[in-house]
Amino acid sequence: MSGANIAVVGATGAVGRVVLSILEERGFPVERARLLASSRSAGTKLPFMGDEVVVEEATPDAFEGADIVFFSAGGGTSKSLAPEAAKRGAVVVDKSSAWRMDPAVPLVIPEVNAGDIDEHSGIISSPNCSTIVMLMALAPLHRANPIRRVIVDTYQSASGAGAKGVDELYRQTHAMLDDRAAEASTFPYPLAFNVLPHVEEFTDDGYTTEETKMENETRKIMHLPDLPVSATCVRVPVPVSHSEAVHIEFEHVMSPEEARDVLSEFPGVRVIDDVAAKGYPLAGFAAGKDDVFVGRIRTDRALTNGLSLWTVGDNLRKGAALNAVQIAEELLERRLAGNGNGR
Ligand code: A2P
Repeated sequence: MSGANIAVVGATGAVGRVVLSILEERGFPVERARLLASSRSAGTKLPFMGDEVVVEEATPDAFEGADIVFFSAGGGTSKSLAPEAAKRGAVVVDKSSAWRMDPAVPLVIPEVNAGDIDEHSGIISSPNCSTIVMLMALAPLHRANPIRRVIVDTYQSASGAGAKGVDELYRQTHAMLDDRAAEASTFPYPLAFNVLPHVEEFTDDGYTTEETKMENETRKIMHLPDLPVSATCVRVPVPVSHSEAVHIEFEHVMSPEEARDVLSEFPGVRVIDDVAAKGYPLAGFAAGKDDVFVGRIRTDRALTNGLSLWTVGDNLRKGAALNAVQIAEELLERRLAGNGNGR
């Protein structure tokens, strides 16, 4: 792998900080790094690869000379600044939803559809965190037995709403334990000791934008434009890791044993499925880990040729930062960015 000049937009945020630590952990070959955020953070310092790096305001000029730019600073920032980075010859790896459904933008989970990276024209999107956690289980099963229908209910952690989501959950929890009122601003109601069937915004069809993202992104990544997918996205009082109950209808009957074998062989997936010994994936166990964990694999009693399963992944790592870094690694391996190999 050749080295790259990188920039991280949103370096001070929940996902951006994990991008920095994953780049370090994986020994990503960085020639030069610029850490970017809003003007509020300009001048602060963040530790990175043994140095203290001064955070700069993200402006178009900050992308000069960059090979790869990671964006995790919200859709509005990506919408306005990602084209500026691409215009200057960088390849953008964008964690926001801004570009995901653009037909010119590959939407990539490297274990699932790495080949789509070759079609990029300056911006590559990393999917929604819940989509990634589900598709790490669906993709290998689909290769073994075509999937015909998917119904999913999520149990999403507070960090899906960024650092402010986790802060709010802790503040509310302390307040309620002290018998004080729990204030909600990031979430529509107090999340502490509660379950909210409301992630992002409602649309006229009664679904939320998060649910529609999961549905559309699944179809795009799996190259199955007509796949019926229905999601209910729910926020739970967990700091990190998204859990999902997934119900899958297949073309042919598939036994839970076969599904376990298929999933066990897929890179990035670990099966924990021994209910007699209370063995199943837990959010607290998945937090801080790179794998997506799958368990509770059983025949679905309501679907034809159906299986039900429980999948859990760290939404900040595989659901966001790790997936973005893996995309960048693919870019270097495919010589699509870095050391003068860029666009
Ligand atoms: P800042 O810390 O300066 O506000 P999170 O997802 O945890 O809420 O983090 C959001 C990230 O996006 C932070 O790093 C934040 O920087 C950054 N950010 C927010 N607005 C902008 C902007 N207009 N330009 C660049 N970065 C931004």
